[in-house]
Amino acid sequence: MAGARRGPKKTGKKTGKKTGEKKSGTGKSSSGFVKRGNARYDRHDAYYKKAKREGFVARSVYKLEEIDAQYHLLHKGDKVLDLGCAPGSWLQYVQKKLDPARGGQAVGIDLLPTHTGFPSWVETRIGDIYDEDAQGLLPDGVDAFTVVLSDMAPNTTGVRTVDQARSMALCEHALYLAEELLAPGGRFCVKVLEGGDMPQFLTRCREVFDTVKIKRPKGTRDTSSETYVVGLDRKKRSSAG
Ligand SMILES: C[S@@+](CC[C@H](N)C(=O)[O-])C[C@H]1O[C@@H](n2cnc3c(N)ncnc32)[C@H](O)[C@@H]1O
Repeated sequence: MAGARRGPKKTGKKTGKKTGEKKSGTGKSSSGFVKRGNARYDRHDAYYKKAKREGFVARSVYKLEEIDAQYHLLHKGDKVLDLGCAPGSWLQYVQKKLDPARGGQAVGIDLLPTHTGFPSWVETRIGDIYDEDAQGLLPDGVDAFTVVLSDMAPNTTGVRTVDQARSMALCEHALYLAEELLAPGGRFCVKVLEGGDMPQFLTRCREVFDTVKIKRPKGTRDTSSETYVVGLDRKKRSSAG
């Protein structure tokens, strides 16, 4: 099953090579707004300012922090896979929660490079998850992750059904990677856009995890339809695979 593709093929290329590269920010305007897809966001909202003050490269860190506070996703000895890790705030949070002396280790992958450096036990790769062989995401000497995170988001078109379908394809691929790579008992957290195929996705998650929760963190913008699905206690694989 490893390496099988789930969901529509993404456009583009990418190689899964390691990166230490830094990259400057997205197109910020002098008004303090940044344009992503068709949305305009106030870069100077409270979470943005807090993230800047606390040294995080994105405000989305507070969503993970809130989910972790509620569901205890991350522990010192975890092996973490972070899908869609750029610019890097979730990995910064993961770095703070893990302890390499206790076996803590993380791998992040994104189409884009992260905006900050990490120690050697937090590996970042540039790559398209659709092009990656699942087993190839494991660090040397590691046979399973204990946590899979996905904050992946497609480039938005502004056409709701198209954006939902692209987002759901990323979620399904993240779930496929979690199935392939998570140890029994492992945890999963994935960003989804509400609507569309959400009920079917939740059904699939319940096949893989003993407990499935939906969480919309406080830091989510009012205009956003995003929410997070959390899977706890990855079930043991059946002998059928
Ligand atoms: C909201 S950002 C993630 C923010 C990140 N959690 C952080 O805290 O810095 C979503 C990311 O998903 C990435 N992404 C989208 N499609 C992807 C794909 N097919 N493979 C890898 N990354 C992808 C985008 O490049 C983007 O950087």
